[in-house]
Amino acid sequence: MFAGKKNMGASPFLYPTPLVLCGTYDSSGRPNLATLAWAGVCCSEPPAVQISVRRERHTYASLMEKKEFTVNIPSHSQAVQADFCGMTSGRSVDKFAAAGLTPLRGQYVDAPIVDEFPFCLECRLIHTFKIGSHDMFIGEILASWAREDCLGAGGSPDPFKISPIAFAGGMYCKISAPALKAFDIGKSLMEKK
Ligand SMILES: Cc1cc2nc3c(=O)[nH]c(=O)nc-3n(C[C@H](O)[C@H](O)[C@H](O)COP(=O)(O)O)c2cc1C
Repeated sequence: MFAGKKNMGASPFLYPTPLVLCGTYDSSGRPNLATLAWAGVCCSEPPAVQISVRRERHTYASLMEKKEFTVNIPSHSQAVQADFCGMTSGRSVDKFAAAGLTPLRGQYVDAPIVDEFPFCLECRLIHTFKIGSHDMFIGEILASWAREDCLGAGGSPDPFKISPIAFAGGMYCKISAPALKAFDIGKSLMEKK
């Protein structure tokens, strides 16, 4: 017992998580998208991301077969398409067509990127871990594509122009504005004696 705290049990509360759409080609060559919130960066060198996918997803079979995928980051204005791709299966629906999105064949991997989305990663599967309800797929990032209108003054992707969706408490949330400078504001405590 901790005073003033309630035990919330063994739950995967870690908010927010990024909302991404995993792009794959299925066994018949059809491009597909699955919306995922269990995702994140997991290594800097080599640059890598993890996505966690349930075995029953159509995407799961495509990941196992192709061992290549894309991670596509929608802007908050594309939340409707993202939500749709999380409630329909590529087994029965051509989600690209239904959502009005354009698949572009990856230049480094056999998987589609979403033309309309502001930022996309091309990934090659380097590890798979069976955990329980989900398997975790770790993809090495071979290339990343930023829409030109989402670049900042220095030529790097500007997260506030990309305006990605943060998933928290069952809601799609906006990243509104830069607030405090990382690797900087904590210095005030280092100087304290
Ligand atoms: C907000 C949101 C987050 C989701 N996160 C995940 C996830 O992390 N892993 C997963 O396996 N499914 C997740 N899903 C469910 C899949 O997107 C959904 O089952 C989809 O229909 C799978 O498509 P597919 O069968 O074409 O692969 C999520 C859905 C939504 C709406």
